Amino acid sequence: MKAKSIIQKIIQMINKVVWITGASSGIGEALAYACAVKGARLVLSARRKDELIRVAKTSGLAEDQYLILPMDIKETGSFKKLTRQVTERFGSIDFLFNNAGISTRAMALESPLSIDREVMEINYFGSIALTKSVVPEMIRQGSGQVIVTSSVTGKTGTSGRTAYAASKHALHGFYDSLRVELDGTGVGITIVCPGYIRTRISYNALTASGERFNRMNRTQEEGMDPMKLAGRILRGVKKGRQEIYIGGKEILGIYLKRCCPGVLHRILVKQHRDNTYFE
Ligand SMILES: NC(=O)c1ccc[n+]([C@@H]2O[C@H](COP(=O)([O-])OP(=O)(O)OC[C@H]3O[C@@H](n4cnc5c(N)ncnc54)[C@H](OP(=O)(O)O)[C@@H]3O)[C@@H](O)[C@H]2O)c1
Repeated sequence: MKAKSIIQKIIQMINKVVWITGASSGIGEALAYACAVKGARLVLSARRKDELIRVAKTSGLAEDQYLILPMDIKETGSFKKLTRQVTERFGSIDFLFNNAGISTRAMALESPLSIDREVMEINYFGSIALTKSVVPEMIRQGSGQVIVTSSVTGKTGTSGRTAYAASKHALHGFYDSLRVELDGTGVGITIVCPGYIRTRISYNALTASGERFNRMNRTQEEGMDPMKLAGRILRGVKKGRQEIYIGGKEILGIYLKRCCPGVLHRILVKQHRDNTYFE
């Protein structure tokens, strides 16, 4: 029995085609390694081609087992062509990890609307546009899974993250509705809400001036290892979970928001006054 379940775990991704956006660093990079270990064929996307090549080589996959597909997630007009490139190369798309994203370290009233729009273009419109391009292919196949990287901030709001929280909340509205529309097609949706994960997200976060924050937040530095997160995401996907919360005690915020929103508000106001979110 044990041997059978181990074999099932091993074969789950053998030869499956897994397209990962934001694969050049952090969570996407970790997902690439976790899927490669399970025998998947990888399509790696992000803007920085050299970093994608580094990830592909580190994954240990043979060259015919991966495709480097650089893309700017804001350039949604290119998605049909990119989707065709994947199906022409591998014949199918089994898993789409819509993971590319950017955060903010910017107070709402100090930020021009262009910051809100930029974050929406990357985190929301980029994700849903790629899904609209890939899911018809999955429906034709009769199977597929779209995995969306949201955040705890997709379920709560917090200081310095108005645009980020809005973009992640929007993902839940879109994908919860799409999951209903896809019932019976064989295509599923999993939304992942990570807490603090040790990546360069705070370095890359936009400030009110539009420049990068360019430093590591303490919360990220002390956060979960992305490889541990990737393993837990794959386990959740395998179980067919619709929504997955992974992280440290910050995950409690999701439950507090449901059962005692006033308490969560007071905690967040205290953090805002202590400036915790910019540390
Ligand atoms: N780290 C956390 O604590 C945390 C918590 C919750 C949710 N998340 C979410 O996890 C996802 C991955 O973030 P991360 O933590 O791994 O941060 P990261 O290390 O900064 O990675 C972000 C990834 O997104 C890609 N990206 C950014 N803008 C892009 C664009 N315009 N076009 C294409 N790709 C773009 C980056 O690649 P290029 O720069 O090469 O384009 C990079 O691969 C994001 O959606 C983020 O919101 C992170």
